[in-house]
Amino acid sequence: MKRVQYDRYGGPTRMYIGESKLPQLGPKQVRVVVSAAAINPFDWKLRQGAMKLFINRKFPKGMGTDFAGVVAAVGSDVRDINVDDEVFGTMDFKESGAFAEEVVLDSHLVAKKPASLSFPEAACLPIPVMTAWAAIFDKAKTSQGSHLFINGCTGAVGASAVQLALARGVKVSGACGTASLETAKAAGVDSVFSYTDRRLQAQKGKFDAVFDTLGTLDVGHGLSMLKKGGVFVDINPTLRRVARGMFSRRYKLAFATMGIKRLSAIADLASEGVLRPTVGLVVPFADAVSAITAIESGTRIPGKVVLSL
Ligand SMILES: NC(=O)c1ccc[n+]([C@@H]2O[C@H](COP(=O)([O-])OP(=O)(O)OC[C@H]3O[C@@H](n4cnc5c(N)ncnc54)[C@H](OP(=O)(O)O)[C@@H]3O)[C@@H](O)[C@H]2O)c1
Repeated sequence: MKRVQYDRYGGPTRMYIGESKLPQLGPKQVRVVVSAAAINPFDWKLRQGAMKLFINRKFPKGMGTDFAGVVAAVGSDVRDINVDDEVFGTMDFKESGAFAEEVVLDSHLVAKKPASLSFPEAACLPIPVMTAWAAIFDKAKTSQGSHLFINGCTGAVGASAVQLALARGVKVSGACGTASLETAKAAGVDSVFSYTDRRLQAQKGKFDAVFDTLGTLDVGHGLSMLKKGGVFVDINPTLRRVARGMFSRRYKLAFATMGIKRLSAIADLASEGVLRPTVGLVVPFADAVSAITAIESGTRIPGKVVLSL
């Protein structure tokens, strides 16, 4: 079985397409033939070693987290997923490896693919939507009538947050690059600013929640944008930002894993048309290494890049 893997933590040159043996199927697990796998920044951060303290030291390690495909086998205790079901899902970050011909994973990490979505579209959903949900609902507790500001409102996480928020009656403002301003407006963002817009400095005391998807908003400035009792949510913790945020009870961190139980709810929202993932580019699996290298190195492709198998 072919997969993208690496023998040591490090930069893009560590990745290669190599052979790997699938683990034996456990009673609560499923085996899925992968049709599409979406590339998330998390994937190269894992390969760079960002989570190495939490992961075993066995190499080679597989790359890739979010995927969609067809179930080829189910363990003896699996009840709700059957062979031939079309599913999408996300690997546990400790056992990633979705940039592969096949994956074996716990059945609670997959859900049935909405019929209205293609495999590449469904593969775009898990990490971005789980993260957005955890940030704006679990941590910031936005609800109908709240006003939310999203820094990076056109990225995968930001766009998911816009769609989830609007569906719940949350008013959304946000910032994005100048090339993305029209996209943000078309998505329903009420007041849109470019990152360098000076009017951003005047947005003080206006929002119930500020969600920084990029880790570029000054924490002090983000906190000053909040109404009394508002919450600043960060998904790109650095020691400096966490230390800065520790002086405020209104600074919170959110992680994709917090939303793992929600894959079925995410599938329902996608079926209803609330969640509309944007595939920017579909790349053949054979070109996976060059595609990951390009976006990791800053090549800007609007929408998600998805590997096709
Ligand atoms: N804590 C967690 O569990 C968690 C989960 C998921 C993601 N994250 C982190 O959140 C961040 C955003 O993730 P994402 O999946 O939303 O990323 P993404 O889809 O690549 O979006 C990145 C955003 O960055 C902006 N950007 C500016 N220059 C860029 C360039 N050269 N290349 C790519 N983007 C550029 C884009 O905004 P414009 O269009 O406005 O320029 C875009 O909105 C990443 O740092 C990721 O690691 C954390």
